[in-house]
Amino acid sequence: MAVITCIEDLRILAQRRVPRMFYDYADSGSWTESTYRANNTDFAAIKFRQRVAVNMENRTLATTMAGQPTVMPVALAPTGLTGMQHADGEILAAKAAEKFGVPFTLSTMSICSIEDVAANTSTPFWFQVYFLKDREFMGKLIQRAKAARCSALVLTLDLQILGQRHKDMKNGLSAPPKLTVANMLNMATKPGWCLGMLQTRRRGFGNIVGHANEVSDMSSLSSWTAEQFDPALSWDHIKWVRDRWDGKLILKGVMDVEDARMAAQCGADALIVSNHGGRQLDGAESSIAALPGIVEAVGDRIEVQMDGGIRSGQDVIKAIALGARGVYIGRAFLYGLGALGEAGVTKCLEIIRKELDVTMALCGLTDIRKVDTSILLPGTYPRPLPPQ
Ligand code: GLV
Repeated sequence: MAVITCIEDLRILAQRRVPRMFYDYADSGSWTESTYRANNTDFAAIKFRQRVAVNMENRTLATTMAGQPTVMPVALAPTGLTGMQHADGEILAAKAAEKFGVPFTLSTMSICSIEDVAANTSTPFWFQVYFLKDREFMGKLIQRAKAARCSALVLTLDLQILGQRHKDMKNGLSAPPKLTVANMLNMATKPGWCLGMLQTRRRGFGNIVGHANEVSDMSSLSSWTAEQFDPALSWDHIKWVRDRWDGKLILKGVMDVEDARMAAQCGADALIVSNHGGRQLDGAESSIAALPGIVEAVGDRIEVQMDGGIRSGQDVIKAIALGARGVYIGRAFLYGLGALGEAGVTKCLEIIRKELDVTMALCGLTDIRKVDTSILLPGTYPRPLPPQ
């Protein structure tokens, strides 16, 4: 591709370069994928108010997320198997985020370990955990995050049971991939990816293999989640995590006002309005539709962030206008990573920053911290539901 101008260009390149199993894993939603699609289409329906003859010099996108300064209100989301989109993917994405000046969040289900990422970066990154049955292992994971100087812990609440993604089952998703005829034929068409993978030793779940008790298949995300994630998770358990982590605590996966009120009461520093990129409860509303009600209910008590459907700087500014302090990008940076490694993640961040900056200017504002619903066309954006 001669000139890369948008996230869609990166997606097309990633689809060409990454084996089908891992491209599909990143790009799927659960069941009919209706929530996955709604995350995008609901953003597209929101319209801006174009303003003119407003001085647009000296613009700034700088703000904070969970108390951490960031050059724009965008963090890299925790995404599983990132090191399968590109060899050493988590290290490369963390380096790109560090150089750019935005937070990077490492997933528990990463290929590169907490220690791998810490050894290759100097800015503290964020670490995401699930609530696990094996509390000893979970306690150790939290300790490892502390030892690696992670500055925030992101606790995922919406994936105690894995939502079914048809393609993962059909592709036989695993890390490393099993050397079946179908996989080998597909990988043979991705020579750059294969070369990278041959040059790294990081090809399994780096935080888990060698650290946790064996499950029936250590290479399978679905076996690991089914056997290790604790379906008994309730609000009392969050205290267990809070007691073990004295840094910033961010709760991920809140879509309901009642749950947001619980999150605001349990000592967390921020919550993420998220339906897991449409990968868990298919049929749930889009994240951007849920955001305004949650901001209205708890925005004065806890920092509200969001993810789901962000593919441009225009999506970022719409979420900020509707009350999010910051957003997370998942697929957008994974496309960049799969396409071009670290340079692709940087490219993704540059594209989003430019779109965000130019959109803010054309809406007549110069400071991201002043963006609110006044930049949106009335009647085109979601509003909080009246109290029940
Ligand atoms: C893991 O969090 C996934 O969505 O696959």
